[in-house]
Amino acid sequence: MTFTVQDHYFRKAKKEHYLARAVYKLEEIQKRFRILKAGDRVLDLGAAPGSWIQLAAGVVGGAGRVVGIDLKPIEHAFPKFVVTLQGDIFDDDFVQTALHDYVPFNVVVSDMAPATSGIKAADSARSALLFERAFEVALWALAPGGSFLAKLFQGSDFHRLLAEVKKQFRLTRVVRPEATRKQSKEIYILAMNLKKSTGGQ
Ligand SMILES: C[S@@+](CC[C@H](N)C(=O)[O-])C[C@H]1O[C@@H](n2cnc3c(N)ncnc32)[C@H](O)[C@@H]1O
Repeated sequence: MTFTVQDHYFRKAKKEHYLARAVYKLEEIQKRFRILKAGDRVLDLGAAPGSWIQLAAGVVGGAGRVVGIDLKPIEHAFPKFVVTLQGDIFDDDFVQTALHDYVPFNVVVSDMAPATSGIKAADSARSALLFERAFEVALWALAPGGSFLAKLFQGSDFHRLLAEVKKQFRLTRVVRPEATRKQSKEIYILAMNLKKSTGGQ
C-alpha cells in the first residue's frame, strides 16, 4: 500500500502521540536552526491543538516556560511550566494583560492561519495580517537577541513583510518544511537575533 505525504505525517503524528502533523514543520526547523534551547521562554501564537507546544516543552524543559495562545481552547494537559490562554491575538488588551507576567520571551513562534476561503488573494491577505500582528507582538514581547518564526501564505505582501523583518533581526531565512502539504502556499519566515528590544516589557 502507498501513502501520500499527508498520510505519512498524519500517521507519524498519531504514532508519536503528537496532537497535530504540524509538529514536523517545527521539528525540521528546530533540527536545522536550533531556535529553541533548554531553559528558553517561548510564546506560541495560534497554538491549538498544541503540537508545537509539545515539541517546545520537550526542548525547553522545566527550567523554561511555554505560553500558547489561540482563539480555540487548548485542551491537552501539559506540564506545569506550560500556560495556555484562549483569546484573539488582535485584541491588544487581552495580549498585554495575558502576557504581562510572562514577558520577555526568547522565542516567539506563530503558526496562525486564517480560515481559508479558497480565494487565493483573500486568503494570502488574511495570512499577511496575522503575520504582521505576530511580528508586532514579537517586537513587543521578545528579549534582545530573541528569535521569531511565523507562517505566511505567499502572496503580494511577502517581499514587503520579509524586508520589514530583515530590518529588525540580524539573520533571516525563508523556510518551506518537508511536511508542508504540496498544494499549500505557506512558507515560514525565520528571524534570529533581534537587534534590540523595542518592547513594552
Ligand atoms: C495551523 S493551526 C496551529 C497548529 C499548531 N501549531 C499545532 O501545532 O497544534 C492555526 C491556528 O491559528 C489560530 N488562529 C487564527 N487566527 C487567530 C487569532 N486571531 N488569534 C489567535 N489564534 C488564531 C487558529 O484558531 C488555529 O488553531
